[in-house]
Amino acid sequence: MRITMIGTGYVGLVSGACLADFGHEVTCIDKDAAKIALIHDGIMPIWEPGLEGLVKSNQERGRLHFTTDLAGGVADADAVFIAVGTPARRGDGHADLTFVYAAVRELAKALTRPVVVVTKSTVPVGTGDEIARILAEEGAPAGCCAASNPEFLREGAAIADFKHPDRIIVGAEEERAREVLAQIYRPLFLNKAPLMFTGRRTAELIKYAANAFLATKISFINEIADLCEAVGADVQDVARGIGLDNRIGAKFLHAGPGYGGSCFPKDTLALLKTAEDAGVRQRIVSTVVEVNDARKAEMAERVRDAVGGSLAGKRIALLGLTFKPNTDDMRDSPSIPLAQALIAGGAIVAAFDPVGREQAEPLLPGVEFAANAYAAAIGADALVIVTEWDEFRALDLKRMKATMAGSALIDLRNIYDREAVEAAGLSYRGIGRGVVAKAAQ
Ligand code: UGA
Repeated sequence: MRITMIGTGYVGLVSGACLADFGHEVTCIDKDAAKIALIHDGIMPIWEPGLEGLVKSNQERGRLHFTTDLAGGVADADAVFIAVGTPARRGDGHADLTFVYAAVRELAKALTRPVVVVTKSTVPVGTGDEIARILAEEGAPAGCCAASNPEFLREGAAIADFKHPDRIIVGAEEERAREVLAQIYRPLFLNKAPLMFTGRRTAELIKYAANAFLATKISFINEIADLCEAVGADVQDVARGIGLDNRIGAKFLHAGPGYGGSCFPKDTLALLKTAEDAGVRQRIVSTVVEVNDARKAEMAERVRDAVGGSLAGKRIALLGLTFKPNTDDMRDSPSIPLAQALIAGGAIVAAFDPVGREQAEPLLPGVEFAANAYAAAIGADALVIVTEWDEFRALDLKRMKATMAGSALIDLRNIYDREAVEAAGLSYRGIGRGVVAKAAQ
């Protein structure tokens, strides 16, 4: 199949490279000439494990092309994927569809043959209908149709997620769209990935419902973690104990500092806007958003308590800044409100992140950036593990303690055992790890 991907952001670039790897002929288009030039030079605009090699090998095999020329890029396409950004609109939380509709208008004028226009960007229910309307209005060739094919990739694991998906959702109203998408995903279908066909609006809602449900699981376990702390239970064991029930499932039950990233915060808000417009209450998702916002704000209080009740003049070392490991993405990262609140409370904040520094520095004025975790710890009253990068899982805590001014370790991701931390001479405070339970064991 000949596929065109409009937008070489996170979703477009990963999806384009993976589709080319299946043997399809893929052209990726982006308006940003500097970005396309960088990709031509082998430099990826995002940090994603395995992406650079995948792009390079498919370019070398002649199956993956990059251009800024939309008309040329769509000329022979069987399917055109829209993978441009849909940020939250300033002020009201609605998904901003300016880029999607602009791309469709430009595309409609450039098309010379009937293609399936597939939305990969996360878009509110009804966007596919509007795309179909725009295609007709702008005089796209007869037979062009619109489909929805939401993505479920996680940053840091995007290539594996694309190649081994739990499911592929295709929302379409026309048989031709279903046929083309079935052909495109045939390699995955052969690998037994369920391919589910739905109506277009249903597919659009599946994406929001999936992210809102995962966000709900996280907020749920985060509140249970608070309860664990109060009653002397251990949230890790509670999560495992409930997760072993297949009806619940073990994934997305890691308690932490609250979810961040480019998807959950934005998509939960957009779902609420859709519901508001439809006149339907969504009390659960609305509470999830509230719980998560409050949780991020509370993290600095944990640090304050661990250093004796006042942050003034205390030196705090933050380990990890990105919203999760294996990405340089800082969007809505819990580290941002944490660092801001620490500084506002009078603390001096030093930080280290394995890859996020470039993205983090402009967002965290006043934070000192260290060259590694050990350098960040020098003179610190407290160490705070904010992001669970692998390289923080086996730190030489004794070595860190020797250079610290204080002795608190606040583990917001529960990657250490209390005993190991205390054996290194540090005090331990995790998330949802009640002390009574440990003492009683
Ligand atoms: C999320 C979804 O997992 C993907 O399926 C979806 O395609 C993507 O959004 C999207 O809509 O594009 P992503 O934002 O990359 O992916 O990252 P996640 O791994 O889902 O993590 C999101 C946040 O939740 C992170 O801040 C993470 O630390 C937090 N989290 C996750 C927890 O606090 N606990 C968990 O158990 C899992």
